[in-house]
Amino acid sequence: MGGRTLRLKGLAYGGDYNPDQWPEEVWSEDIRLMSAAGVNFVTLPVFSWPRLEPRPGQYDFDWLDRIIDMLWEAGIAVDLATATATPPAWLVREHPEMLPWNADGVRLEFGSRQAYCPSSPVFREHVAGLARVMAERYGTHPAVRLWHVSNEYGDHVARCWCPVSAAHFRRWLQDRYGSIDVLNDAWGTSCWGQNYIDWGHIEPPRTSMGPINPAQQLDFERFSSDALLELFKVEVDVLHEVTPDLPVTTNFMSMFRELDYWDFAAAEDLVTDDAYPDPADRRSHIGAALNYGLMRSLKGGAPWLLLEQAPSAVSWRDVNLPKAPGQMRLGSLQAIAHGSDGAMVFQWRQARFGPEKFHSAMVGHRGERSRTFQEASSLGAELQRLAPVKGSRVRAEVALVVDWDSWWGLSAPDSLPSLRLDWARQARTWHAALYELGHTVDVVQASGPFDGYRMIVVPNLYLTTPEQAEALAAFASSGGVVVVGPFSGVVDATEKVHDGGAPGLLRELLGVEVDEWWPISDDDRIALAVEGGPASATVWSEWLEVADDVEPVAEYLDGVLEGRAAVTRRRHGEGRAWYISACIDPVALKSVLGTAADEAGLKNRRELPESVEVVTRSDGDADFVFVLNHGSSPTTLAAQVDAVDLLTGTSIRDGVLDLPGFGAAVLTAPVDVALARGIRTPLSTSSAHTEPDQEARR
Ligand code: GAL
Ligand code: ZN
Repeated sequence: MGGRTLRLKGLAYGGDYNPDQWPEEVWSEDIRLMSAAGVNFVTLPVFSWPRLEPRPGQYDFDWLDRIIDMLWEAGIAVDLATATATPPAWLVREHPEMLPWNADGVRLEFGSRQAYCPSSPVFREHVAGLARVMAERYGTHPAVRLWHVSNEYGDHVARCWCPVSAAHFRRWLQDRYGSIDVLNDAWGTSCWGQNYIDWGHIEPPRTSMGPINPAQQLDFERFSSDALLELFKVEVDVLHEVTPDLPVTTNFMSMFRELDYWDFAAAEDLVTDDAYPDPADRRSHIGAALNYGLMRSLKGGAPWLLLEQAPSAVSWRDVNLPKAPGQMRLGSLQAIAHGSDGAMVFQWRQARFGPEKFHSAMVGHRGERSRTFQEASSLGAELQRLAPVKGSRVRAEVALVVDWDSWWGLSAPDSLPSLRLDWARQARTWHAALYELGHTVDVVQASGPFDGYRMIVVPNLYLTTPEQAEALAAFASSGGVVVVGPFSGVVDATEKVHDGGAPGLLRELLGVEVDEWWPISDDDRIALAVEGGPASATVWSEWLEVADDVEPVAEYLDGVLEGRAAVTRRRHGEGRAWYISACIDPVALKSVLGTAADEAGLKNRRELPESVEVVTRSDGDADFVFVLNHGSSPTTLAAQVDAVDLLTGTSIRDGVLDLPGFGAAVLTAPVDVALARGIRTPLSTSSAHTEPDQEARR
């Protein structure tokens, strides 16, 4: 797949475009404004299947031909959607069995988008048909640079419990287990009288009398992700066959529980993401940094593309705050800092009807006078100056494990020690601690590869396989630092508790055994001592028995666990293995991960102000250091560097970098100037008094 790359001049800039929602007179105005705003790439026609195939087998492509030609005349390239996310009403009425069912057995009605069951053979056949017609018609058009398959798989329908899906689930299980006896064993059906004698007796886990077999539940999660992946591949195969040189993507939804994006990314040529950080959340940029870390990591660090973000407000939250002036620019620069080769939005022109008429767009209801258009235009000009960063890669020395099996297993309803240990929150909390220590964090699978990293953090690996345990142990043996979070190493791939209990296959690496889990009641907390300082745990704690060569780093001070180890570390080969058995408070977590990072030889940058993020991309010759002020107030940084700001074209003067609220600089210099390290808070305003300066210590 290496050869199929997105060919565009400069960074991608533009948005979703729905010309079929507008009279044609508006189109030439659109193109004039796109050119004025520096737009070079638009996505269409994502939801237009009923316009392209108004009746079975009768196509109307004239309008699409016209708009693609018009765009290309203006030099605007196209991310061409296969338009398969919205099957037309006629198809659904002809084949009502393609409508999805929910877990209660209710058939979901036509009336929104994604009116399909992922497993439906009829739907798959029609999808393949449309993709082929689109590929044959537009595959050689010079404007078309990328295939955009469907839209946000799983956004509305990620799981389907209909009879068609049930039959597909059975086939999937037969492939996986071969015989019904093997399935009975894997699912542990001897518990609660679940034995099966016939594949046909198995159903997806619909609403039942009580807690559902967790192994059945987990396999249904896996199956459902695979069912959508299969549907995706139906189109990918057609597109690769007809247009072997054009890259294919489908737009992801950041850290999305329902789909295993490691598998999806392997099936596509370019990773693209839709990101909607909430302007009402002052810390949403931290979550965004993790989402983007995942996106660049899905294909081993290759550039990806932010395909959707909101120019200002969205329309699907309960309360939809607009972005403040400058915030959309900063969010775009953050995505680019993290490896996106462009910044696209949803959508170009604000709708006048439909569920998204209050969703912001580059061109608001006030047309070119709207604030979003003004800001979009100046961003378009700036992005042209950032063209040199294209293709460069983000530098990260620490990586965080994201594992969908564990995520799914940990969300099994009603059969866990506590339902409060939320997998995603756990991952986000650990990431935030690393972020606040100044680290740019990649994402890895628990089975590796870990090349190039000094530290691997595992916020939770509830389900652990031998391959994963071996990879983590090998990383530590060869000098890496591994930090593992609570309730890890608990079950195997079929939800069976590992022999001898947790942390199972990680027991030797970590040198601890969990005797019992001690989840913490809501609103309760347990006192801890972490590196001499007071700290606390909420949600989760564990009774640990530790081996002789294990050093307790923190201990519980309260309750039944008083005096027992809470955080441990031990040498393993050339490296270290840490275990954090509780959900410790953010300050304590930062301190523990900071110490582990010190051991790993990483440079914690605690001295930066909280609002400032520094991310480095490098092309091997030049470094590009993005300095981003996510706060609304101005900040001043010392910049002992000799560099040029690509955004302004000016050199840094007098060792000072002033950033307004939501301001940014993109500094560039040859690689051997250790640029990022020169950026710090001037002493007068810094927190460097209270925390040791890692640089000064060397
Ligand atoms: C995305 C979707 C777009 C649009 C957008 C609005 O999830 O892909 O089509 O609906 O949300 O924020
Ligand atoms: Zn179905």
